Amino acid sequence: MSAINNRSYEPIPLKDFKVKSEEEMELISKNHLFNMNLRHTIRDFSNKKVPFSIIKNCIKVACSAPSGANLQPWHFSIISSKLVKSKIRKAAEIEEQKFYDDLKKDEWLKVLEPLGTHADKPHLEVAPWLIVVFSERYSQLSNGEKRKNYYVPESVGIATGFLITALHLSGLSCLTHTPNPMGFLSKVCNRPSSNKASLILAVGYPANNAKIPLASTIKKSFDEVVSVF
Ligand SMILES: Cc1cc2nc3c(=O)[nH]c(=O)nc-3n(C[C@H](O)[C@H](O)[C@H](O)COP(=O)(O)O)c2cc1C
Repeated sequence: MSAINNRSYEPIPLKDFKVKSEEEMELISKNHLFNMNLRHTIRDFSNKKVPFSIIKNCIKVACSAPSGANLQPWHFSIISSKLVKSKIRKAAEIEEQKFYDDLKKDEWLKVLEPLGTHADKPHLEVAPWLIVVFSERYSQLSNGEKRKNYYVPESVGIATGFLITALHLSGLSCLTHTPNPMGFLSKVCNRPSSNKASLILAVGYPANNAKIPLASTIKKSFDEVVSVF
């Protein structure tokens, strides 16, 4: 049984917090901002291999994320198998084609237009790794009981943010991909009914001639998104 299902309150000293000077904090936050501004979602991947150990470290970063009551309601299917990637691509392209053909989605397609996306998803086979992030709506305990998880989308979203940051700072690029609907991913990745696919991250290096949409580099300004009290 996972240790997280057998817990009680036990306060322990906080040992990990390192005090920094304000100058150090200023510099670290500035450097982090600079480095994070170099992150871009890419859609043109090289097929150059990426060691599993790097992906594993990044997933471990994701697993260190905060979560509702520390229930860690996530699962990561990590895929390099050509066969599995090909199954995911085929199923995703069927859904994507239906989506792009659906005129009722006009408004959504209009906001996607500046990003130049379409129904062909070669990255799902070219990128050396796919990470499918699943939300665990409830946990199946060893005594057969189900335990509901709380704040699942919030927790999984934060863990995914940690993961994307870790991949970027490790020197990799990724594409967050959300085929709609995503039910086929549970089947391909053999996940139980408690799991719901949240997104696919295609992970690897950019192709030599990779391009990104200008539109994706236009970010809201600090003043547009912040109110200070
Ligand atoms: C929840 C979510 C879903 C996304 N789904 C897709 C997708 O299905 N296909 C795609 O090409 N990009 C997808 N993206 C990537 C966004 O288009 C991209 O993050 C955005 O244009 C900003 O670009 P940037 O990541 O380079 O800053 C998704 C991003 C997020 C956060």
